[in-house]
Formats: sequence, C-alpha cells, structure tokens
Amino acid sequence: MTTHADGAERAGRNPLRRLAEGPVLITGGAGFVGANLAHRLAQSGRSVVVYDNLSRPGVEQNLAWLRMTHPDRVSAEIADVLDTAALTRAVRSVSQIFHFAAQVAVTTGMLDPRKDFAVNATGTLNLLEAVRSCASPPPLVYTSTNKVYGAVDDLPLETSDARYDLAAQHGSRGIDENRPLDFHTPYGCSKGAADQYVLDYARSYGLSTVVFRMSCIYGPHQFGTEDQGWVAHFLLRALAGKSVTVYGDGRQVRDILYVDDLIDAFLTAQRAMPRLRGQAFNIGGGRENSISLLELIDRIGKLRGQRPEFERRGWRQGDQRYYVSDYARFSGATGWRPRVPAAEGIARLHAWLRDNLIREPGRIPTRQPSVALEKAPAIARAMQ
Ligand SMILES: NC(=O)c1ccc[n+]([C@@H]2O[C@H](COP(=O)([O-])OP(=O)(O)OC[C@H]3O[C@@H](n4cnc5c(N)ncnc54)[C@H](O)[C@@H]3O)[C@@H](O)[C@H]2O)c1
Repeated sequence: MTTHADGAERAGRNPLRRLAEGPVLITGGAGFVGANLAHRLAQSGRSVVVYDNLSRPGVEQNLAWLRMTHPDRVSAEIADVLDTAALTRAVRSVSQIFHFAAQVAVTTGMLDPRKDFAVNATGTLNLLEAVRSCASPPPLVYTSTNKVYGAVDDLPLETSDARYDLAAQHGSRGIDENRPLDFHTPYGCSKGAADQYVLDYARSYGLSTVVFRMSCIYGPHQFGTEDQGWVAHFLLRALAGKSVTVYGDGRQVRDILYVDDLIDAFLTAQRAMPRLRGQAFNIGGGRENSISLLELIDRIGKLRGQRPEFERRGWRQGDQRYYVSDYARFSGATGWRPRVPAAEGIARLHAWLRDNLIREPGRIPTRQPSVALEKAPAIARAMQ
C-alpha cells in the first residue's frame, strides 16, 4: 500500500507532475458514493486517498474492501473534516478532490442542527481554505443535493394510484438549475451553504470547482436506512422478509441514478473542469428513471415473487412530492447521460445485496462477503 507521505514527497518535488499523476483525494471516501468512485479510480491505475472519520455505521467495511481489493492504490486518512490540520496535510499532495464527507440525512439534521452545520458547512469551508492555501490548488467536485430547491411544491401535479406526475401542460423534463434556491430543513441549509461557498471560491479566489446537485443515487456498497438511501433500504428490508414504513402516501416520485452513471459524470466533470468550473449542475436519472415509493415496492415484488408488506405513517419534514432532475445542462456541456435504466439498476442492486450481505434472511453470510453483516449495524437494524 502506498503511503500518503510518498505522494506528498513526489508532489513536493514537481508540482506539474503532481497535477498529472498525483493521487485523488476523496473526503467521505469510505461511504457509498466514495467507495464506488475510489474503486473505479483504483481500477484505472490512479492512487486514491480516502479521507473519512468512519462515522457512518458500516462504512469501515467499505474501506476494508477497498484496501483488500487495491492494496497498492488505496490509502486512508482516518480524520474529520473539522480537523483543519489533517485536511491541509491531505490536500497538499493530491491532483484532484471529490468532497463527499457529510452528515447526509435530513432527519438527523433536524435532531442536531449544530452538528449538521459543523460537518456540512464548516467542514466544506475548511476544505476550501485548505485548497486555497495550496500553491497549485487541485480541482474539486462537490456533491450538493436537490434539497437546495426546497419543497418544489408549486409544480402542477397529476395524481394516479401509484405516483405523482408533472401535469402534461407543464411540458418540462424536470427541475433545472434556473429554479430559485430555497433551502429547507437544516440539512438543506447546511448543504446549500456549502454549495454556495464552493461556487463562490471559483468566483472569488479562482479555484476550479464544480457542484453537483444530486437526486437519489443508488447502488452497491450503500448502507441504506430509513433516513437515507431508500432504494437500498427497501431492498434490504424485503431481503430480510421485513415490512417497510412508507412516510406520506407513497406516491412521491424521485429520479434515481445508478452509481456507475454518477461516477462517469464525476470523471467527466474533472476532465472538463476548465470549461465547467464555477457552475452547478443538476444530476440524476431524469424523468425516464423516475419512480415512486409504491412503484419501487411493486418492482421489488416482481423481483422477489412477493410484494413486500408496508405500513403508512405521516409525511416527513421537507419531503418533496415530486422531484425529478433535468440534467440537460450537464448533458449539453459534456454529452453525459444516464445509461443504466432504473429497472436494471434495481435488479443489479438486489442481486448485489443478496449475494454480498444476506444469503438467507436473518442469517450471517456464509462466504467471504464484501461487507460483514455482523459489523454493519445499519444493515442489522434494517433487518430488525
Ligand atoms: N446518496 C445519495 O442519494 C445522495 C443524494 C444527494 C447528495 N448526496 C451527497 O453525496 C455525498 C455522499 O453521499 P453517500 O450516499 O455516499 O453518503 P455516505 O454516508 O455513505 O458517505 C458519507 C461519508 O462521509 C463520512 N463522514 C461523515 N462525517 C464526516 C466527517 N465529519 N469527517 C469525515 N468524514 C465524514 C462518513 O463516515 C461516510 O463514510 C454526501 O455529501 C451527500 O450529502 C448523496
């Protein structure tokens, strides 16, 4: 395994070479999105520094898997984004940065807004300041959220049995970047503040930064819980033979994007950084990959031959009835578009969870898993 110090030494000698060959820093690199990106980069021969405090239950297993799979390419810095000294050290030797570390759940942010603000807003500012202090600041991609557009409750919606949909006369592909910002919930505010700082550091200090305002991402290595990662959470519950709780009427619609498509978009953004810098892009599966909670339950039923049971509860704070990304700005600028249809992605994730996490409901997997169930409290909770 390469050490961070090796990279720093190489980088210190020749900044130009550093830009071409230096490692890639992923904050939150042990998380769902981070682990998938780290894997793809390492597969392509890049060195990756995972910067993560491992606060999300279960993600230490992602890191163990990355280290096992790429012992020479993946190194780790177990640290917090609130640790400015560690962050500053980490950015010094790298050629690119992806900033994912965050408090990621709307519900958790409601319970502890100070912590949510500290990690999401102050943590991002800490990173930007660390980048600004570099002699040649590495380009940075930041993952913001569709929650920066608020409730989006002014859209004309049609209601059918299983979903909300945009009324035909609306004629739009979804929410584009011209939508006014309207931060809702502490999570929306802290992520939104960070989103604006990341954009402003391109304006005010000339950094190369891009913001992705993402809708629902799903795929392998996702520890979906009731609070975040609903596609994985519903599948895990179904695999465990448990019912799911549907908050609201279940007709709420999201566009979902398979994580491999997101990784393509990240790599595209870094390649096209000189053209894209200073801009925010809505990234998601788009209207063609939109699905409601009730439709997901039906789809899982088709995959498993039995529709999962569910019970209803009241609406949750900040829950949008309809959110579908219009990704045309990014697509127009780069040619990127989602390639994995929702039905195929859900089937792939179902197979991955079944093969890697749960062989039989309620039992620990018998073969070497990517993630050990007994060490993944989020998964264990999903099975209760
Ligand atoms: N997954 C989605 O659907 C989605 C949608 C919109 C935006 N996002 C954003 O994408 C990013 C990645 O999301 P994810 O689904 O991979 O989440 P995740 O929870 O799986 O990963 C986040 C990682 O950050 C780490 N982390 C948390 N606090 C930290 C801190 N203070 N210091 C260092 N590390 C810390 C966690 O341990 C975890 O490994 C997040 O910024 C999230 O807000 C995700």
